[in-house]
Parts: sequence; structure tokens; C-alpha cells
Amino acid sequence: MYQTLLTNLENNILTITINRPDKLNALNKEVIRELGEVVDEVYSNAQIKSAILTGSGAKAFVAGADISEFKNLNKADGAALAKKGQVIFFKIENCPKPFIAAVNGFALGGGCELAMACHFRIASSNAKFGQPEVNLGLIPGYGGTQRLTQLIGKGRAIEILISGNMIDAETALKYGLVNSVVAPEELLSKCNSILDNINAKAPLAVAECIRCANLAANNPSLKNFETEMEAFGKCFDTEDTKEGTSAFLEKRKPVFKGN
Ligand code: COA
Repeated sequence: MYQTLLTNLENNILTITINRPDKLNALNKEVIRELGEVVDEVYSNAQIKSAILTGSGAKAFVAGADISEFKNLNKADGAALAKKGQVIFFKIENCPKPFIAAVNGFALGGGCELAMACHFRIASSNAKFGQPEVNLGLIPGYGGTQRLTQLIGKGRAIEILISGNMIDAETALKYGLVNSVVAPEELLSKCNSILDNINAKAPLAVAECIRCANLAANNPSLKNFETEMEAFGKCFDTEDTKEGTSAFLEKRKPVFKGN
């Protein structure tokens, strides 16, 4: 169905593998276009409760935007390229269903940005992160300056952005860029077990947590506390909140239906 992606739906989890291993899964136009399509599929397919994004092969998650497509671009072309990616990365970030990045190797440039657009990141011990665009006389264009600063703070973000240096998985963990580090062979099973746990929660509550956390990160303001308050209130109109609270009080497991 896709030329540059592999997909596998199991236990309501869609695993999306970017599949250009000979080019370290670099994001060319086709990958970006197909990522847009698969993200739409995550939104619209009721069988999918959450998604894992990863890269093919043992070496790379994604080694960046495809530099071979940068030739002869002008200012307007560059901005248009950034916009195409940003629209899709925003869709991932704002998806009501959780996306985990399973970072299985190099996550550089657009790869680090793609991982940061996911709701959180699990890294294999051989993962390496960086924004090497300065090495190309460029800056990140898929939201990297913003999301890196949000995730790890201004000082560390600026160092990574302007040095172009990579950090290893343990440093990424210390900085808060990733949530945990596991052995390469355990990466996908770890992500699946995290999502199995989340998939058993009330989908509307999960979606509201994502929405409110995104507001806090993207638009810090006291107003976001009101939004959280309203979203909290809204939950009480749902069957799942009634089911979840009753099940706790009745000492049984809740059965959530998504309404
Ligand atoms: N765009 C296009 N092609 C890329 C790529 C990218 N971002 N990253 C890697 N590739 C290609 C290489 O050109 C090479 O292709 P070839 O075999 O046809 O020559 C292949 O992937 C393997 O990469 P290679 O550089 O030989 O592997 P390595 O182990 O020596 O180095 C990296 C790995 C990740 C350090 C190196 O590939 C690299 O620096 N990539 C670019 C990272 C970057 O700047 N990303 C931001 C882009 S804005």
C-alpha cells in the first residue's frame, strides 16, 4: 500500500516503519507524503488506538531530511518544504491517539524533529540524537528549534542546535529528550507494552491529556489552566468517566468504550 513505509496493525497498535534503510531512512518527498497519509489513517481508523513510529534497519531511525532534494532550492522553495513537513508533524503532535517514537539509531535533523513531534520517545541504547543542520548552513525546518527548547530547556537546546553535535541515548535520557533507554532487541516490545497499558485507558481522557499538555507546551498562559479545567469538566459528561470511577470504587477493571 505504501512505497516507503511498512505498516503493521496488531492489538490496536499501528507500527509504522520508515523503510529506506540504504539511505538511513532519510525523509524524501515521498516519505513525507506517505507519512501524511498514514497519520490520516491513524486519525480515521477506529481499529487503531495508538501508533509506534520507527525506522528500518539497525542503524537509523531517520538520518534527516533527504539532503539530495535540497539542491537548487530558493527561499520560497525552502519555506514550502518546511511547511509540508510541519503540517504533518503538527498532525502527529495533535493526534488524539498517542504516537511513540521508537528511536532505533540515528535521529538527526528531521529525524530528531519527527521523534519530538511524537508524544514521547523510547530509545535503544545505540540511538544518537542531533540537529546537524548548522553543518549544512541550515537550521531545522520541521519545528526543531521549538520542540527541542520545549523538551530540554533553552540552554541545552541552543548548544545542540548551534554545535551540530550528536548526543547519545544516555545523555538524551538525562536531558529528558527520551523517556527511557532499552536494549535494541527490546525496543519494540517495550513500546508495545507501554501502549497496551495506555490503550486500556479511556480514549477521550487520553486525548484530552494530550490536547492540554500540547497547549501548555505551545502556548504557555494561565488561560491553559482554564482549558484544562473545562476539559476536566467535559469528561464527566462521558460514559467512560462514569465507568472508570465506578470500576475503581467497585474494585474491578474498567471497560472503556470511547464515549
Ligand atoms: N539525506 C540523504 N541521504 C542520506 C542522509 C540524508 N539526510 N543521511 C544519510 N544518507 C545516505 C548517505 O548519503 C549514504 O548514501 P550512499 O550509500 O548512496 O552514499 C547512505 O545514506 C549511508 O550513509 P553514510 O553517510 O554512508 O553512513 P555513515 O555511517 O558513514 O554516517 C551519518 C551516518 C548519519 C553520520 C551520516 O549519514 C550523516 O551525517 N547524514 C546526514 C545527517 C544530517 O545532516 N541530517 C540533517 C539533514 S537536514
